[in-house]
Amino acid sequence: MTIVTVFNQKGGVGKTTTALNLAAALERRGCSPYGIDLDPQAHLSSIAGITAQSGDDTILSLFQRDRPLQELVQRSPTSGLGVIPSHMELSKVDTLFGKGYDIVNRLNATLRAEKFNTENTPVMIDCCPLIGVLSLNAIFACDCIIVPVSADHLSAKGAMQIEKTLRALEPVLKRRVNRRYLLTRFDGRRGMAWEVLKVLEEKFGADVCRTRIAENVSLAESPAHNKTIFEHAPNSRGAQDYETLLDELLADGFIQQPALTRNEREDIVN
Ligand SMILES: Nc1ncnc2c1ncn2[C@@H]1O[C@H](COP(=O)(O)OP(=O)(O)O)[C@@H](O)[C@H]1O
Ligand SMILES: [Mg+2]
Repeated sequence: MTIVTVFNQKGGVGKTTTALNLAAALERRGCSPYGIDLDPQAHLSSIAGITAQSGDDTILSLFQRDRPLQELVQRSPTSGLGVIPSHMELSKVDTLFGKGYDIVNRLNATLRAEKFNTENTPVMIDCCPLIGVLSLNAIFACDCIIVPVSADHLSAKGAMQIEKTLRALEPVLKRRVNRRYLLTRFDGRRGMAWEVLKVLEEKFGADVCRTRIAENVSLAESPAHNKTIFEHAPNSRGAQDYETLLDELLADGFIQQPALTRNEREDIVN
């Protein structure tokens, strides 16, 4: 199934919120998604309730010791989501290993060699707000990118920069990277929110998600409870928005439909 990277080089735009809650929405459809935390701040790991004592049990050891990814998966004690956690020491990757092809392609090569994602195991990769070795690994490894853009001008600027970066990388990758720009923290009472939407639509056309994630207090609160939005406030606007987003991404073939048996499908519907 699909490997999705969530990236914007601006912080605080909803990357982690989107990676976590899209994974949770996929889980509700019968998938067994994995989250890979590529941010040294380790927010995804910490919301999932996973704290690594040392870098050794985290994604760092993929770079340091070529450790198999399957050995690094930990289960969230709250949501049950399979997460490969991050650690502060991950910030050293850029200086320790340089930017050679082998290192920026490491995650991609390992995911494919291990057949890590199967028909029923999508992977959501959460990135740090920098374009460096870690984010390049996420871009090289993914089938598609979601770029969350919180409805403000700096965040939109980050999106323009990513478009430039992707266009520069595509000849190296020898493919077009499927992308969707996702408006987050959208507050329709603010003129700026509509201005940013207009700019995105003019620049990126059909690559802008039709679904917008509204500013929602439950989404802001859920990390403090170590919960996904579906555990914390299943009837909230935030939960609805992430369900609608997943519907859109599945309908557009951006994320592959889960391969479920008829019994599994019926269990979910009932
Ligand atoms: N739609 C939303 N409505 C309200 N708060 C949000 C929303 N999306 C994210 N947040 C909050 O904004 C902050 C930044 O979001 P986060 O996902 O951590 O961004 P990033 O990973 O891009 O740094 C977090 O406190 C998060 O809970
Ligand atoms: Mg984050």
